[in-house]
Amino acid sequence: MGRSKPRKPSYSHNQALTHQVVLPDALPEEVGESAWIEVIQHMDNIYADLVEHQVALEDRNEALEAAYRELHRTHEELKQTQRQLIQAEKMASLGRLVAGVAHELNNPISFIQGNAFALERHNTRLQSFFAELEKLNHPVVNQLREQNRLNTVLQDLNPLVEGTKEGAERVTEIVQNLLRFTTPQTRAVAPFDLAALIRHSMQWVCRSNQIEMQQHLELPDSLEITGYEGLVHQILVNLIQNAIDAVEPVKEPTLWVSVQQIEHPTAQQVAILVRDNGPGIPRKHQAAIFDPFFTTKPPGKGIGLGLYISYLLATEQCGGNLTVECPPRGGAEFTLILPTAIRPNRVDGGGNP
Ligand SMILES: Nc1ncnc2c1ncn2[C@@H]1O[C@H](COP(=O)(O)OP(=O)(O)OP(=O)(O)O)[C@@H](O)[C@H]1O
Ligand SMILES: [Mg+2]
Repeated sequence: MGRSKPRKPSYSHNQALTHQVVLPDALPEEVGESAWIEVIQHMDNIYADLVEHQVALEDRNEALEAAYRELHRTHEELKQTQRQLIQAEKMASLGRLVAGVAHELNNPISFIQGNAFALERHNTRLQSFFAELEKLNHPVVNQLREQNRLNTVLQDLNPLVEGTKEGAERVTEIVQNLLRFTTPQTRAVAPFDLAALIRHSMQWVCRSNQIEMQQHLELPDSLEITGYEGLVHQILVNLIQNAIDAVEPVKEPTLWVSVQQIEHPTAQQVAILVRDNGPGIPRKHQAAIFDPFFTTKPPGKGIGLGLYISYLLATEQCGGNLTVECPPRGGAEFTLILPTAIRPNRVDGGGNP
């Protein structure tokens, strides 16, 4: 066996076997001492190699773990972006669908409404005609009236016509609302006092609801921004009305409204926070509340368009955003973000969601 030069390990362990192995006093005659030393040095080299590989393996393991963590983070970001894209696409498709339905409904509902008004006029005439006829007290007329149960028919006619008219008016209102946000319209961008607008919206909604509640307004005396005052008013009214509806069953109904300036290097923004101490929004509803026609309110109290329209106005038309959170202390908190100066060409002449 040729004697190979022992390799010196390049690491600090250096507890080479040659230094640790005690050679037996008497070695078998056929194996010389030098051969034993060679074997041990060889084992020493193998051991050094092993340690070197282990160190390299640990390094690689660490790098792999770091890469895994990075991959995991990127994956989470991707999932978040995907959720946002799906939400944006869902809102866009819903917008197109709603626009289509609104257009289709517009014509038939205007017939129904027109006919309901005509029916109302005819009904008034018929009612007075039959009242006069009754005064004649003619036996044949009386018999025919009885046979055809005209008394019941005449009694029913008024609420039937009234109900048809009311229903038609409600559908017309819904369709008009939808069309307003799905057809291009030109509005003027102008500077306005946001703080005054918030105070005015609060007074307006509270007065029309005639509700006693605590109001905490954290607003500056005035805060001028440039944008669509009418649209912002509409969003605020929607949010405040929802908050008022939410606090209805609460013992001490309270509303908080505040404004914060958001410093941003490229775009200056303001955040308007509308918070209530109502029951909050169950987690399972949180993703649906911005969908059209999602409502938990009884019929006649809500149709589920308020937040859908507010979201479209905030994002598509005002260049901002509208989000919701249900803080652990309870209630619901809506945040409306608006740029302090909207770019006019962003929306003028086009408002398709
Ligand atoms: N502040 C709030 N607290 C609790 N739930 C809320 C709040 N705001 C909205 N919601 C929930 O979101 C749903 C949708 O609200 P949205 O304003 O779109 O419709 P709506 O108020 O039901 O009807 P409307 O079309 O008259 O506004 C509500 O029915 C309610 O369940
Ligand atoms: Mg509402």
